[in-house]
Amino acid sequence: MTDHYAVIGNPISHTKSPLIHGLFAQAAQQDMQYTAIEGPVEPDTAFADVVRAFATGGGKGMNVTAPFKLKAFAMADERSERATLAGAANALKFEGGRILAENFDGMGLVRDIEINLARPMAGKRVLLLGAGGAARGALLPFLAAEPAQLVIANRDVAKAQALAAQVAGRGPIVACRYADLEAMGRFDLVVNATSASLTGDLPPVPPSIFSPEGMAYELAYGKRLTPFLRLARNAGVRNIADGVGMLVEQAAEAFVWWRGVRPDTRPVIDRLTVPLD
Ligand code: ATR
Repeated sequence: MTDHYAVIGNPISHTKSPLIHGLFAQAAQQDMQYTAIEGPVEPDTAFADVVRAFATGGGKGMNVTAPFKLKAFAMADERSERATLAGAANALKFEGGRILAENFDGMGLVRDIEINLARPMAGKRVLLLGAGGAARGALLPFLAAEPAQLVIANRDVAKAQALAAQVAGRGPIVACRYADLEAMGRFDLVVNATSASLTGDLPPVPPSIFSPEGMAYELAYGKRLTPFLRLARNAGVRNIADGVGMLVEQAAEAFVWWRGVRPDTRPVIDRLTVPLD
């Protein structure tokens, strides 16, 4: 019997999830259908109604994208620790009448950096820019990768400090302002998890954070050479990446969670890669 899955967001026309999961299902010979649903923004309860209707209609799971990640988290019956720290869910599983919430964004990001891009974080100095949902999702998976130091910088430094305090027991994390970065030396990995690139902006970081042998990673996908990646390149960083691998890897984590089979991500990443230049 064909199992049903969907991605829900608003707007949703840009989504690559049906393509990604379709390719995974084909390669892994899984009998499943995956569609895109434009979720209702109003009234407030309408999103949860659509999700419940999908589940009671036999749906097995959903991916959740903007602006519904918080609502998806809030309506779940069970939540993973990762989702709880992020306060957001990007994947749901419907099981025995219950809704389970997960957040695979951070895990997908770490897998992309460590496996696809061959940059293990253990023992490295890592800088995470931003303290919104994307950065929150990355914190626990980053600390689990055992960096020598994880610095989180944000315009609103109180947000970064609150996040650092929440995970302080999990590893060596420090919060700071962008202005403090000048004095903090070079990082092996700098990840832009702010939403600045979506508007063509640049978080106010000094070029001194970059190491030519290190890597600069832009979470946004398909925006080509963003101001952040341009700054990194001008600072001599040879290894720059956008979020295509993360996009595919977080989808793969959901696929494993739902189907118990790990799909091969390489061909899908190759297919979706947009050249940076
Ligand atoms: P999301 O949940 O999608 O990450 P968010 O919670 O609105 O979105 O967070 C956006 C992040 O991008 C925040 O860290 C924000 O910084 P502030 O918390 O200081 O507002 C950051 N951000 C957005 N635009 C930025 C810009 N032009 N420069 C620097 N940081 C920016």
